Amino acid sequence: MDEKTAALAPVKPSGAYDVGAVEDFEFDVVKIFELEIGSVGVVRTSRGFYAVRNRCPHMGAPVCRGRFGGTNVTSEPDDLVYGFREDVIRCPWHGLEFHMSTGESVYGMTKGRLITYTVDIEDGRVLVSRRRGGNARPSTSS
Ligand code: FES
Repeated sequence: MDEKTAALAPVKPSGAYDVGAVEDFEFDVVKIFELEIGSVGVVRTSRGFYAVRNRCPHMGAPVCRGRFGGTNVTSEPDDLVYGFREDVIRCPWHGLEFHMSTGESVYGMTKGRLITYTVDIEDGRVLVSRRRGGNARPSTSS
């Protein structure tokens, strides 16, 4: 489900980390990288790439080891509606869920949020910015 690699140093003058080629990433599988800025989970979705710090704001769990996908969303009684596809990571310790696109918890279940990083694609390479992003934005290429 995930993959660890040796700590990577930034490769770009901007301080971005090259975490691999686009084709090295399966869709909807979170890969974990040990970067100089800490452990970071990166996922490729149909909307682009997202990257977040691999640390749950609740009690510090390696959140990126949790299940990635969607979640049940508010619906009418007795209906079961699945939504937020390709956006939600579920913490493996206590089950809080977060949007990888923004870092915010699903339905504001907790005030804490994941630290997000901008991902850019250059020449087919996946570059994770070392600067924290308020909101991650999907890369233009998937
Ligand atoms: S540590 Fe993640 S939900 Fe508690």
